[in-house]
Amino acid sequence: MYFVAALALLAGLSAASRLPSTQHIFSNPTSNDESMNRIPTVHESAVQARRILHLENIGTLSTIFPSTHSAENRPSDVSGTPIGLMDYFGDCEPSTGNPTILAISIATSFKNVAAGSNITLSLRWHPPGHHRPFSPASLPRFSLVGYLEELSPEDVVKQSVAVCFVRYHPDAAAWLPGNKIHESKWVRLVVEEIYWIGGFGNVAYIGWIPVEEWKSVTKEEIEAIRLPGEKKHRWGH
Ligand SMILES: *[C@@H]1O[C@H](CO)[C@@H](O)[C@H](O)[C@H]1NC(C)=O
Repeated sequence: MYFVAALALLAGLSAASRLPSTQHIFSNPTSNDESMNRIPTVHESAVQARRILHLENIGTLSTIFPSTHSAENRPSDVSGTPIGLMDYFGDCEPSTGNPTILAISIATSFKNVAAGSNITLSLRWHPPGHHRPFSPASLPRFSLVGYLEELSPEDVVKQSVAVCFVRYHPDAAAWLPGNKIHESKWVRLVVEEIYWIGGFGNVAYIGWIPVEEWKSVTKEEIEAIRLPGEKKHRWGH
């Protein structure tokens, strides 16, 4: 029994020794620490974020309930409260990095936007395979702040948006615009601000990424890097 308890304690201690000192877990250090690994630049962080946008396909849309509710039987005390809901996106406009979303008119996120809410899309990196990283808090995640804009019929055709989106989400073929079940339309989240948490603050950048950095990332840059836990080339899944 003592042996088992001692082992558990040792395991806990060795795990804890791999964590940065507490003050750097959720922020970058202010002074230059000699023992510190190099923190990626803002641009390198933007490249990581754009690669995550390309390889992931599910995120959380956060919107705010309006002050008045008409159609739906909704508790009135949720007015002004944010709600985050899972949704699909696709990296279908890679020249801008504006994610493509299939907006279902009756879904809460899009109703809130129609009622005047702002919106963010939050996503995080899931390393491939079933390996749970030592600390999921060490992995990159970020939020895209912006507004929804409907795609023109020309954009949809020219950029093969339906093909791109269904490649990410085969099941979504059932609710593409024009389907018989739900009214839906193609929108882009026009990215205006990016809040990035690259991981623990002693080895990753934590902070805002200017939208110019986000937009300036090239396909070659995205293809050239690997995210934590990525082994081989996964471009184009
Ligand atoms: C949405 O964000 C803008 C800033 O981009 C702000 O001026 C506006 O008040 C926000 N709208 C709501 C409904 O919170």
